[in-house]
Amino acid sequence: MKNVGFVGWRGMVGSVLMSRMSEERDFDAINPVFFSTSQHGQAAPAFAGKQQGTLQDAFDIEALRALDIIITCQGGDYTSDVYPKLRASGWQGYWIDAASTLRMKDDAIIILDPVNHAVIRQGIDSGIKTFVGGNCTVSLMLMSLGGLFAQDLVEWASVATYQAASGGGARHMRELLTQMGMLHDHVAPALQNPASAILDIERSVTDFTRSGTLPTDNFGVPLAGSLIPWIDKQLENGQSREEWKGQAETNKILATRNVIPVDGLCVRVGALRCHSQAFTLKLKRDLPLAEIEQLLASHNEWVKVVPNDRELTMRELTPAAVTGTLTTPVGRLRKLNMGPEYLSAFTVGDQLLWGAAEPLRRMLRLLTS
Ligand code: HSE
Repeated sequence: MKNVGFVGWRGMVGSVLMSRMSEERDFDAINPVFFSTSQHGQAAPAFAGKQQGTLQDAFDIEALRALDIIITCQGGDYTSDVYPKLRASGWQGYWIDAASTLRMKDDAIIILDPVNHAVIRQGIDSGIKTFVGGNCTVSLMLMSLGGLFAQDLVEWASVATYQAASGGGARHMRELLTQMGMLHDHVAPALQNPASAILDIERSVTDFTRSGTLPTDNFGVPLAGSLIPWIDKQLENGQSREEWKGQAETNKILATRNVIPVDGLCVRVGALRCHSQAFTLKLKRDLPLAEIEQLLASHNEWVKVVPNDRELTMRELTPAAVTGTLTTPVGRLRKLNMGPEYLSAFTVGDQLLWGAAEPLRRMLRLLTS
C-alpha cells in the first residue's frame, strides 16, 4: 500500500476531498498520513475508520520524503515554500496539488482525467511526477463542453462567467451571506408592510450598500445585490488573471498543437458554490444541433445536456439545482444569429467538486489502483 500524505485536508477544498474519498472508499487502498502546518503532534483524524496516530509537521522535509504521494490543498504559499525544497532533496514521489503555483510548469500536468486521461497516462509513463488540478472555470467548461473539444470542433470560445463566492474561499462565502442578511435586516419591517413602496425600499438598500457598513474585507466591495466584474490580479494586457487562465490552461489540458483561443470576462456573482458560464462558440464547421447534443452528452458520465426549454432550463441549469452534485449540465444550446457555426451554451458546475477536489481524488486513484 502506498504511503500518502495529506496537507490542507481541513480547509474547504480539503474537506470536500476527504468526504469524497470516504464516500468512494479511497482510503481502503492507501496508508494515509495527515500533516498540519500548525497543529502537529495532535491526534490525526480517523477517516474510513483508520486511526493514524498524530499529525505530522507539514514543513518537515524528512517526514514528507518518506511518502510515495503527497496531496496538498494547503494553497500556493505552502507549495512555493515546500515543493522546491522537497524536490531539491531528491524526493521522487508524486505531488498532487490544488494550488495554481505549478500548473504551467513544463514538468507538471493539469489533471482532469475525463478530458485528458491520455495526456495523464502518457505523463505517468514518461516519468512526470507533478500533477495539478486546473482552474475551476476551465475544468468545469471542459467537463461540460468536452465533447466538442475532443472532436477538435471548436475554432474559438468566448465566455462570460458567473463565479460563486466559494472560488474566493470560505471567508468569502461567509462575507457574502453576512452581507445578504444585513441588507435584508435593514429593510425587513418595510418588506413586511404591503403598503410600502418598493422604490423606497430599494433606495434604502442602495444607500446602506454604499454606506460602508457592510463587511468587505474579503471581496473589497459589496457583492450581495451586486456583482464584481474582476477576479484575481490585473495583468498588463488588460485581462484579469482568471481570464488569462482560460486559454492557457485549456490548451495545456488538451495538449493542443494549435492554440484554441479562449477569452472573455470573469465575473463574481452572489452564488455560493456553483460557477456558471455563458459561451459563444465558433465551430469549425456547421453541424446539426442534434449531432452537437449527442457529442456533448456522450463525452463523459457527468455531463448532462439540458434541452433548450424554458421549464427544464429553470429547473435543471442553475446553481441551486447543481450545487453538491457531480453533474456538469450544459444547456441553452442554439445556433446564433451570427451564422450556423456560432453556438451558444450555458454551463453550471459545483466549484468545489469537479472545480477543485474531484480531479485530485481521481488522480490519486489512478496512482494507487
Ligand atoms: N479562481 C477561482 C475563483 C477559483 O476565484 O472563482 C477556482 O480556481
